[in-house]
Amino acid sequence: MTATEPRPDYANDLVEYANDPDRIAEFSVWNDDVTSLIHTVEDNAAAIYTWRYDKGERASLDKLYEKAKTSQWNGQTDLDWSIEVDPYQVLAPANPAEVEYFAENPESPLHKFNEDEWAELGVESMNWSLSQFMHGEQGALLCTAKIVETVPWIDAKYYAATQVVDEARHVEVFAQYLDQKLDGIKYPCNSHLGLLLDDILEDSRWDMTYLGMQIMVEGLALAAFSFMHQTTEEPLLKKLLRYVMSDEARHVAFGVLSLQEVYQGLSAAELRERQEFAFEAALRMRDRFLRQEVWERMGVDVKDMVKFTLAMPDELRVFQRLLFSKIVPNCKKLGLLDAGDGWLRDRFTEIGVIEFEDWVDTGLEYEDLDEVAKDREAALA
Ligand SMILES: [Fe+2]
Ligand SMILES: [Fe+2]
Repeated sequence: MTATEPRPDYANDLVEYANDPDRIAEFSVWNDDVTSLIHTVEDNAAAIYTWRYDKGERASLDKLYEKAKTSQWNGQTDLDWSIEVDPYQVLAPANPAEVEYFAENPESPLHKFNEDEWAELGVESMNWSLSQFMHGEQGALLCTAKIVETVPWIDAKYYAATQVVDEARHVEVFAQYLDQKLDGIKYPCNSHLGLLLDDILEDSRWDMTYLGMQIMVEGLALAAFSFMHQTTEEPLLKKLLRYVMSDEARHVAFGVLSLQEVYQGLSAAELRERQEFAFEAALRMRDRFLRQEVWERMGVDVKDMVKFTLAMPDELRVFQRLLFSKIVPNCKKLGLLDAGDGWLRDRFTEIGVIEFEDWVDTGLEYEDLDEVAKDREAALA
């Protein structure tokens, strides 16, 4: 996505795709690129030096940078890898209403599952979720390395450099958890997630890397980690997520604080492009949770399962909606929700997530979520 001209067909196509179960199912095919060990993306951007070395010129970014330096943690020594993990005990109890929809509805592709298959589905789904977190973390690692190169402000380069280290740790701990505590890394990058990460990395405009990664992907990750952290009882995973979330809250704040300044200077047409990019990212992330790779592995028809999942009544979609609980208020804070004719507000209304618009945004939340600092204070007390 590098064009700068308005693309009305593209916007219309996104709106149609968002509500078409056949097209979503068609797109949700098994990723057949599972044998390559590398994946190459053109990043299309110039690396920028700045000769303005005035540290603290952007005070909020400087504060974030200082915080990041003192809240670094070490995945090898701050987490207790001696904890034994039973994969069947890692799982959170399922939502009973959702279980009823998938297990007891005669039209469900899972209707005939026996007890062993349900247990296997739980373990596979956990492995799949953590694998996707790990792949997304690598996407964040590459995106923040790109931000170090492309952002023109020294305070942002400094901060982004700390985030590169954070993301390296995140990839490291998810990979290690899968490798040592579950059944290895079994799932490739989901096709929806992979397409989104490629789009973000390919874009030539530095603020798009921020919008795609820092606001959309990181905002969703923060909500997803928070949900898993609240529901799992497994102590190693719980602490791992708690520490990753401490960092992620800073990362989303970095996006909000930087883009607030940039968006004030954009034209209506430029803002509309950002709205469309945000909506496309939201759709990719919504559809990545359809778990098509798990259905393929378990011998369930992927298209049938995707369509059945999409037909789930709105009142059961608690988790799917909560994933947007950070993204929507942050888009509002950036002015993207209501820019122009409110195009993004309409889209978020259509996909059923506008209810979060007045939830807390992530501009300052990182101070409350800094569990690393809290643990250090407690250790000294
Ligand atoms: Fe991360
Ligand atoms: Fe992050």
